[in-house]
Amino acid sequence: MSFYKSIVINETTTAYFWEITEDFNVLFRQVTLKDISLARLEKMKSESHQKGFLAVRMLLQHIGYSDFDLYYDEFGKPHLKNTKEELHISISHSFDFSSICISKSKPIGIDIEIVKPKILKIAPRFMDISHLKDLSEPDKIRKATIIWGIKESIFKIKNEKGISFPKHIFENPFCSITETNCTAELRFNNTKEEFDIQYYQLEDYIFVCALPK
Ligand SMILES: CC(C)(COP(=O)(O)OP(=O)(O)OC[C@H]1O[C@@H](n2cnc3c(N)ncnc32)[C@H](O)[C@@H]1OP(=O)(O)O)[C@@H](O)C(=O)NCCC(=O)NCCS
Repeated sequence: MSFYKSIVINETTTAYFWEITEDFNVLFRQVTLKDISLARLEKMKSESHQKGFLAVRMLLQHIGYSDFDLYYDEFGKPHLKNTKEELHISISHSFDFSSICISKSKPIGIDIEIVKPKILKIAPRFMDISHLKDLSEPDKIRKATIIWGIKESIFKIKNEKGISFPKHIFENPFCSITETNCTAELRFNNTKEEFDIQYYQLEDYIFVCALPK
């Protein structure tokens, strides 16, 4: 078992993390999958993706749910069914970590990303790079990864066609060295929505969680 840890985001929202140390067969033997999930698993090209997918099911089982409680809408957004109360779920995986976050109150979006220098190459495509000025190289990489995670997380809450990371999602100024939370805005379709953001470092990964204000 490689349940890594949980993080309480607030009184109704908790994120759970699985560190993938097992090989494919060990994970596969321990999860119960419905036929549609089995078919999806078989179509995945990389074993890393397959293990991330299985680790999400390990997390669901760890907290008393299973693959049978999970379904996806037409856009690929996950939902939980058959629960007594309305629950919201968001899922993310990156290399050795899978994460799920469950909220009893509001929709949530999460993203886990490995911290890699490559993020600075693509940063101009998704963010205002003036927000990285005056930072050391490692701090630029870390902050750009957080900002990417903010945009992915908000996108996952909204799940709407046409949202562009650089044109519609804006993080408000924050200091990624001293702070662990910030706020962000989605300006899309003539409306403005605000989000609270929390971010954490886990090993070499950044985890971001977004909640509507
Ligand atoms: C869907 C998307 C958010 C997934 O993010 P990712 O970093 O590739 O992968 P993650 O591991 O973090 O998240 C994958 C999970 O997101 C969830 N997801 C997929 N589509 C989703 C959607 N439309 N809404 C909410 N959640 C979604 C799924 O649970 C998926 O995992 P699973 O299928 O194994 O259950 C991303 O691929 C995407 O389409 N982003 C928006 C497009 C964009 O604007 N890109 C960058 C422009 S510069």
